[in-house]
Amino acid sequence: MSAVNGCVAFITGAASGLGKATLKHLLTKGARGVYCFDTQAFPEEVEKRDNFAAYRGDVRSEENVSAALEECYKKFGKIDTVVNCAGVSVAFRLFNFKKNRAHDLKDFADVFQVNCLGTFNVNRLAAGYLYKNTPDEANGLRGLIINTSGNAAFDGQIGQVAYSAAAGAINSMTLPLARDLGVVGIRCLTISCGYFKTPLLAHLPKNILDFLENSTLCPKRLGEPTDYARLVEAIMDNEYLNATVIKLDGGMRMFL
Ligand SMILES: NC(=O)c1ccc[n+]([C@@H]2O[C@H](COP(=O)([O-])OP(=O)(O)OC[C@H]3O[C@@H](n4cnc5c(N)ncnc54)[C@H](O)[C@@H]3O)[C@@H](O)[C@H]2O)c1
Repeated sequence: MSAVNGCVAFITGAASGLGKATLKHLLTKGARGVYCFDTQAFPEEVEKRDNFAAYRGDVRSEENVSAALEECYKKFGKIDTVVNCAGVSVAFRLFNFKKNRAHDLKDFADVFQVNCLGTFNVNRLAAGYLYKNTPDEANGLRGLIINTSGNAAFDGQIGQVAYSAAAGAINSMTLPLARDLGVVGIRCLTISCGYFKTPLLAHLPKNILDFLENSTLCPKRLGEPTDYARLVEAIMDNEYLNATVIKLDGGMRMFL
């Protein structure tokens, strides 16, 4: 039986894109409860289901995340999977020589704080809830954390200094997180994404999207949010996966 069956998942950024697809996928596959934590409104189509709940809050806020985790735990009786999908992007060169303008310090801080500090904040506050679970008989496992980063951590493109730094930091957190939590049977992995068809890419012109599509090896297409959701399920199902960054990108290598 799939590990999704009967699970309770706390998913950040679940009102859109990768998080939303994951939430819907887990619901379809028999999750006991899915919890959407996001700054924006929640997917209408699942709002009325008993095994869905949502909280509008900011991953950077201790107060918001603590309140949401407690509400999720009380409503569904446990939390065994945390998926961190909340994130923002910024594109600006370190220095725009034509406009004589340096990269905004606030833009760097914002992307770093939402993507990296937000992931850390959710994980540190969720760990205590995952620990409440009784370890499973076969492997002594209590729970799972999945983070999301981007291939900009490896092949950062022009204008991606801030975003790449945040993605790299999330990747680097993966092993120490898994070591800190492995002692009590909690796994931690990061999915490093290539380019996916989500609102995050909505601002890109068609020629750029075509270029990105051509940068994949095969299949020659951008990622679908459901590709990400299916990897979450695969990670849940395979308890021997731990402490690593998995690239999900169709073999894409990014150029300038
Ligand atoms: N789409 C891609 O091609 C791609 C590539 C690499 C990495 N990623 C990463 O995947 C993650 C999900 O991206 P997506 O494509 O689904 O984007 P998206 O914009 O569709 O979804 C991101 C969600 O995060 C929420 N969010 C933003 N800031 C928040 C905050 N402070 N607190 C709580 N929620 C917040 C947004 O409201 C939104 O619903 C992001 O971390 C992104 O950096 C995406």
